[in-house]
Amino acid sequence: MFYEPKKKNHGLPKNPFNSLVIPRPIGWISSVDKVGVFNLAPYSFFNAVSYSPPTVMFSSGMGPNDDRTKDSARNVESTGEFVCNLANWETREQMNQSSATLPPESDEIELTKLTPIPSSLISAPRIEEAPVHLECKYIKTVEMPGWNESDFYKVIFGEVIGIHIKDEFITDEGLIDVAKVIPIGRLGYNDYAKVSIDSIFTLDRPA
Ligand SMILES: Cc1cc2nc3c(=O)[nH]c(=O)nc-3n(C[C@H](O)[C@H](O)[C@H](O)COP(=O)(O)O)c2cc1C
Repeated sequence: MFYEPKKKNHGLPKNPFNSLVIPRPIGWISSVDKVGVFNLAPYSFFNAVSYSPPTVMFSSGMGPNDDRTKDSARNVESTGEFVCNLANWETREQMNQSSATLPPESDEIELTKLTPIPSSLISAPRIEEAPVHLECKYIKTVEMPGWNESDFYKVIFGEVIGIHIKDEFITDEGLIDVAKVIPIGRLGYNDYAKVSIDSIFTLDRPA
């Protein structure tokens, strides 16, 4: 089949786009607003974009409030900081619950009964239950226009300035024990994938 997204002529019951760029890593973004309210939400339009400095991005669609900006994006833009927590099999239910649309004054960390712990270099909290935390300094926002004038996406870039890895997830050889972490990835619809020992394979790079 062939279709043109703008014409929405795929003829399928659901938009297939989200099922085509998969699996997407999930940036589980914790932040704090200007008056100290914590916030947590998952973003799967998320990725690492460079090594030196290590840089990540997440793309936030429109939010329900007057400024049309989701809480995570607003907090990062106003405080200049966020943490990207690694979502894994163990934390999958809380990750999903933290996507609830709540007013800015609500704290999803409290709602999901997760544990906020201080970061080393920034004031945004980390999620204790996550195996890995990337402490990030905001770099910039790139606004992506939507099809309608009222529609836009904020792509937020941040430099990773501090990285916490729980020691139990580092092997004796000094490698990240991905099979133990069991990261999860976003597929389309409400589906996810998990990285487990039998789903990992190795390919040697050509010379
Ligand atoms: C697995 C998952 C991935 C998501 N990815 C995105 C995303 O990439 N961009 C986005 O705008 N919303 C995404 N959402 C929805 C947000 O998490 C949701 O709108 C949330 O309420 C935003 O919270 P905030 O306003 O506290 O930032 C995702 C939800 C889930 C469950």
